[in-house]
Amino acid sequence: MTDAVKIGFVPLSTAPKGSLVVFCDDGLKLGPATRKALGAAADTIKRAAAANQFKGKSGSVLDILAPDGIKIQRLMVVGTGKSDGPKAADFLKFGGVTAGRLNAASTAVTVLAELPDGAMKPEQAAALASGLRLRAYKFDRYKTKKKDGEDAAVRSEISLAVEDVGAARKAFAPEDNVVDGVIIARELVNEPPNVLYPEEFARRAGQLKKLDVDVEVLDVKAMTKLGMGALLGVAQGSARPGRMVVMRWDGGKRGDQPVAFIGKGVCFDTGGISIKGAASMEDMKGDMGGAACVVGLMHALAARKAKVNVVGAIGLVENMPDGNAQRPGDIVTSMSGQTIEIINTDAEGRLVLADVLWYVAKKFKPKFMVDLATLTGAIMVALGTDHAGMFSNNDELAERLIKVGQETGEKVWRMPLGPEYDKLIDSQFADMKNTGGRHGGSITAAQFLQRFVDGTPWAHLDIAGTAMGAPKTDINHSWGSGYGVRLLERLVADYYETRKS
Ligand code: BES
Ligand code: MN
Ligand code: ZN
Repeated sequence: MTDAVKIGFVPLSTAPKGSLVVFCDDGLKLGPATRKALGAAADTIKRAAAANQFKGKSGSVLDILAPDGIKIQRLMVVGTGKSDGPKAADFLKFGGVTAGRLNAASTAVTVLAELPDGAMKPEQAAALASGLRLRAYKFDRYKTKKKDGEDAAVRSEISLAVEDVGAARKAFAPEDNVVDGVIIARELVNEPPNVLYPEEFARRAGQLKKLDVDVEVLDVKAMTKLGMGALLGVAQGSARPGRMVVMRWDGGKRGDQPVAFIGKGVCFDTGGISIKGAASMEDMKGDMGGAACVVGLMHALAARKAKVNVVGAIGLVENMPDGNAQRPGDIVTSMSGQTIEIINTDAEGRLVLADVLWYVAKKFKPKFMVDLATLTGAIMVALGTDHAGMFSNNDELAERLIKVGQETGEKVWRMPLGPEYDKLIDSQFADMKNTGGRHGGSITAAQFLQRFVDGTPWAHLDIAGTAMGAPKTDINHSWGSGYGVRLLERLVADYYETRKS
């Protein structure tokens, strides 16, 4: 894991060394412990703020080197905005903007987790710590030279000075597991496709066994036996064989219906015989962002011992043009028995998901299935990169996803489904075709998937715009964003875990 910070908790009264981070509101007001720690340097802040037009706006930073009146190297003041207090999500941002300023000189950092009105609550300090880790993550495994002044390869040790060390550690422990899950997902998306192909992806998913997740890997022979002609039709054009990985975490009551998450894992998408253009084709190493999210999510849930039964299933293939590749015009038979006419071999994700969705619906009869897939370029045309497209056959599930999306900042926007769209994928030769014409491309893709959920409550997240290459945010500067891990972890935590008694 390319993790640039190590987080610890210390008492509020700890004397800072190295760099010190403190918080003030939009009246430049500091908390009592902060004023005490700063001593004469509180006045330095006033003068530096005036000189720099710093007003304490939420997420703004005043950076003072070698501050007068205190023996530290650097003093960072982070604005918390309006004096009526920041909201839950703001603490992630504060951590993010702080980590964004750390550099080679910031190896020892103390963050005084206090608001002007008093010490941060344990959950607030935990969110701050999560923001620090999320923003500090950097994928630099393949850089052999570090540029001058670049914040590469520094592992900052960050001490959060908090009122109650035990309570803060307790609040952070599960959040820390979630951040690990996000970073695992980002790593998988960032890895180059010569390194991360289906077998290697399956091997990495196998590391979840260390957390007592049951991991089953199905090879081509096993999938052939199950009749997964849709997934295998995509896989057959590659020298690297396909895999399906089924992960199970049983933290709930014995026999309780599981919840299920399904991911598109196209380790590289050339388009196949309907080959893509050269422009940005390298981005198609990230076409396994859905599968990466499912692995990261399983990690988060298992590591924090979530009280729920969960199934994670991913279809891993490489979509390549080859003498053995499938052709437009081919008709394949899916595991469900439904036949599919291939119109465009670049609409491969839905073929992979068709068999995995059907397998999970039939084998596990889950409470619901959520699939994640970098499925269509059209979803970026519709929604840009700030919302994932969400399609669902179940209003309750859809509303819950919208709600946890707003809470976590991993937003979803519901898109329509309906028989008028569905008939666009009827085929003259088979039960259906794998593309539906020029219009409503994300919707016809979702209609295709719906034909394989067997009536199970289901939501499909089209994450083509959010999983990779989206603009940088306060808490993410990585190409692979890890989108979906925090969203679905929250969905499970808020609605599907048996309450602790
Ligand atoms: N993986 C792509 C979708 C994609 C494109 C994801 C750009 C991220 C960035 C998917 O397999 C694909 O090629 N979809 C086609 C479908 C079309 C052939 C019906 C598309 O969107 O053009
Ligand atoms: Mn494609
Ligand atoms: Zn694809």
